[in-house]
Amino acid sequence: MSYQSHYFQEAREAQSRAYVPYSQFKVGAYLKTKDGRTFYGANVENAAYPATICAERSSLVAAISEGYRPGDFESITVTVDAEKPSSPCGTCRQVLKELCDDDMPVYMTYHKGELLESTVVELLPHGFSGKDLE
Ligand code: THU
Repeated sequence: MSYQSHYFQEAREAQSRAYVPYSQFKVGAYLKTKDGRTFYGANVENAAYPATICAERSSLVAAISEGYRPGDFESITVTVDAEKPSSPCGTCRQVLKELCDDDMPVYMTYHKGELLESTVVELLPHGFSGKDLE
């Protein structure tokens, strides 16, 4: 299903839950499954900075922990309070590659609500995957 305007509001709701004592940069992710479930993700920072978990991965880990598996996801919407749409970091792109279909939409928004639409494979072309281990 293509982008719907309420996805942004859902991602904003997720964003409100961010734990960001160090950067104050709140990120929210709204993950939809093909069977109609939704998962929220927010970034969760840590005093040992590399232990921080991004919003995108938070939502995916929540879904996997509830039993969802690669191929089950329909779209992810990410939002930030910035002057341009959010852009998943390299680690999140790799995790999206692992868990989501290559053509799954990634909707990147920001506080003005405008949309930049991409896909997993567009964000990580020529990415490494389990197939490379065969
Ligand atoms: N962050 C995310 O949550 N997602 C991204 O893809 C980029 C970065 C978070 C991590 C950290 O809490 C804050 O944004 C600043 O880097």
